[in-house]
Amino acid sequence: MLPETTRLILREMTDADYDALRAIMQDPQVMYAYEGPFTDEEVRAWLNRQLERYVRFGFGLWAVVLKETGRVIGQCGLTMQPWKEESVLEIGYLFRRDAWHRGYATEAARACREYAFSVLGTREVCSIIRDTNLASQNVARRNGMTPRDTWVKHFRGVDMPHIRFAITRP
Ligand SMILES: CC(C)(COP(=O)(O)OP(=O)(O)OC[C@H]1O[C@@H](n2cnc3c(N)ncnc32)[C@H](O)[C@@H]1OP(=O)(O)O)[C@@H](O)C(=O)NCCC(=O)NCCS
Repeated sequence: MLPETTRLILREMTDADYDALRAIMQDPQVMYAYEGPFTDEEVRAWLNRQLERYVRFGFGLWAVVLKETGRVIGQCGLTMQPWKEESVLEIGYLFRRDAWHRGYATEAARACREYAFSVLGTREVCSIIRDTNLASQNVARRNGMTPRDTWVKHFRGVDMPHIRFAITRP
């Protein structure tokens, strides 16, 4: 059973979610922390990576569906991410701009945290966030995480200082 909350259902994405994903990942304001919007090819590769993750790990970024409308309003889920010499379990989230400021990201992220602890049995889960991305850092804090350490990641040819927020299972 994938995470479900009062207002949201999280489910695996399929090829049919390509257009919903484009609506998120080709919006320059949503993608500011990723150095701008993705091309069609980058969105396709992103979707394929999630499909591969479902098979390899049993989890990945999931589609977030608003129960009230049945519409995909974002992505949230768990992925393995490189961090220094390690591979760490991360909660990630990206939402359509018209779904911001309603608490959906925090609601979905908390459900993923519970899933990581109770279903995957992990000891610690994190969110790796660009130092400039305050909205995302606020979601991590509302998800009970605290800043632990920093590292410069290289993405799309740019050096991006990142902060690792984390929470350890109580
Ligand atoms: C990161 C991101 C998902 C955060 O979205 P967000 O709307 O700020 O966060 P939430 O969905 O948790 O909403 C919190 C806001 O909803 C408000 N809110 C309204 N109704 C609410 C409710 N019922 N419950 C909780 N909060 C509610 C809160 O007061 C808060 O307000 P604020 O934005 O004025 O501070 C969004 O900015 C985004 O998609 N960014 C682009 C992608 C990205 O950078 N992802 C992270 C990469 S590390």
